[in-house]
Amino acid sequence: GIPKFVKIVEVGPRDGLQNEKNIVPTSVKVELIRRLVSSGLPVVEATSFVSPKWVPQLADAKDVMKAVCDIEDARLPVLTPNVKGFEAAVAAGAKEVAIFASASESFSKSNINCSIEESLARYHAVCLAAKEHSVPVRGYVSCVVGCPVEGTIPPSKVAYVAKELYDMGCFEISLGDTIGVGTPGTVIPMLEAVMAVVPAEKLAVHFHDTYGQSLPNILISLQKIDSAVRIPSTLAGVVLAQIPKLSMFQMGISTVDSSVAGLGGCPYAKGASGNVATEDVVYMLNGLGVKTNVDLAKLMLAGEFISNHLGRQSGSKTAVALCRV
Ligand code: HMG
Ligand code: MG
Repeated sequence: GIPKFVKIVEVGPRDGLQNEKNIVPTSVKVELIRRLVSSGLPVVEATSFVSPKWVPQLADAKDVMKAVCDIEDARLPVLTPNVKGFEAAVAAGAKEVAIFASASESFSKSNINCSIEESLARYHAVCLAAKEHSVPVRGYVSCVVGCPVEGTIPPSKVAYVAKELYDMGCFEISLGDTIGVGTPGTVIPMLEAVMAVVPAEKLAVHFHDTYGQSLPNILISLQKIDSAVRIPSTLAGVVLAQIPKLSMFQMGISTVDSSVAGLGGCPYAKGASGNVATEDVVYMLNGLGVKTNVDLAKLMLAGEFISNHLGRQSGSKTAVALCRV
C-alpha cells in the first residue's frame, strides 16, 4: 500500500530559480509563489537567505519574503545557512526556515564552505535561535546517494547526518539526491539506514531528475506493507530477514519535494538537472488515488507562467502532454 495523503513541498521558487542563468525579476517570483499557493500546495519554499555572492539569483530574498509573508493559505519556508541568514529571514517575515547539511564532505565544502561537523555546529545555533522565536526548522541532507566529487555515499553517513539534524530539533528531514543519480537499487538501502534512526513520518524525499529516476524512487519511498498482509510482529524480523525483497516495501514516507515545471538544479552540483516536476508527481498520485489537495490544472498554469517567462518548454512531461490534448 501507499499513504492516502501525500504532502507535496513545492521547491521551484527556491531550488528552481537558484539555478537559473538569468536573474528572474522579484515581481515574477512573487507572482509564481502566489499562483503555486492558489493551486492548493500546502508548502511553497519561497527563497533563500544565503550570501548573494554565492547565489546572486536569490539576492532579492528580503523583497520576495516581504511581498509574500501575508499569504496565509500555505507555509512559506526559506533556506537559512547560518544565524545571520536566520535573523534576516525572520526580520523579513519568514515563519519557517530550513537548514541544509550534506552527507558528503566535499559537497559541504563547495556548497556552504565548511565541513559537515562545522555545519552541524552552525545549524545547532540556528535551531537554538529558531526555538526562541518558535520558528519550525526543516533539515535537508544533500548527496544522500551520490556526490559529484566523492561518488557513492554510504547510507550510514546519511543516517548519521539525518539523526543529528533530527536531534537538534528539525521537525522534518528531507533526503536530497542532489545530483539525481539514485535508483531504487541505491535509494532503498539508504532509506532503510535512515529509517532505523528517524521515523518515516518525519522524513521527506527530494529527488532531482537527472537520470529520469525520480518517479520510481518516489514510489518506492511511499510503499509500505498493508496492515491486512502485515506479518505478526513476532515473526516479522525472521520473515523479513529471509525475504529481503519484502523489506523494500516498508517505507511509508508521505512527504515529497518537487519543483513546478521541473525547474531547478544546484549551482554547486554541475550537470545536475531540476527536481522532479510537481505536475508529474501530482499526475502519478492522482492515478494512484492518493490525495494531495493540489489542483493539477491550476498548477499547470503556474508552470506555464514561469516557463513562458524563462522562454522555454516546461520540464514536466505531464504539462507538455496535457497541453496537446
Ligand atoms: P562564507 O563565504 O564562508 O561566509 O560563505 P562568511 O561567513 O565568511 O561570510 C562571507 C560574506 O558573506 C560576508 O559578507 C557575510 O556577511 C556574507 P562580506 O563581508 O564579504 O560582504 N554572509 C551572508 N550574506 C547574506 N546572508 C547570509 C550570509 N552569511 C554570510 N546568510 C555561506 C558561507 C554559507 C554564507 C555561503 O557558502 C552560502 O551562502 N552558501 C549557500 C549556497 C546555497 O544556497 N546552495 C544551494 C542550496 S542547497 C541545495 O540546493 C540542495 C538542496 O536542494 C537539497 C538537495 O538537492 O540535495 C537543499
Ligand atoms: Mg535540491
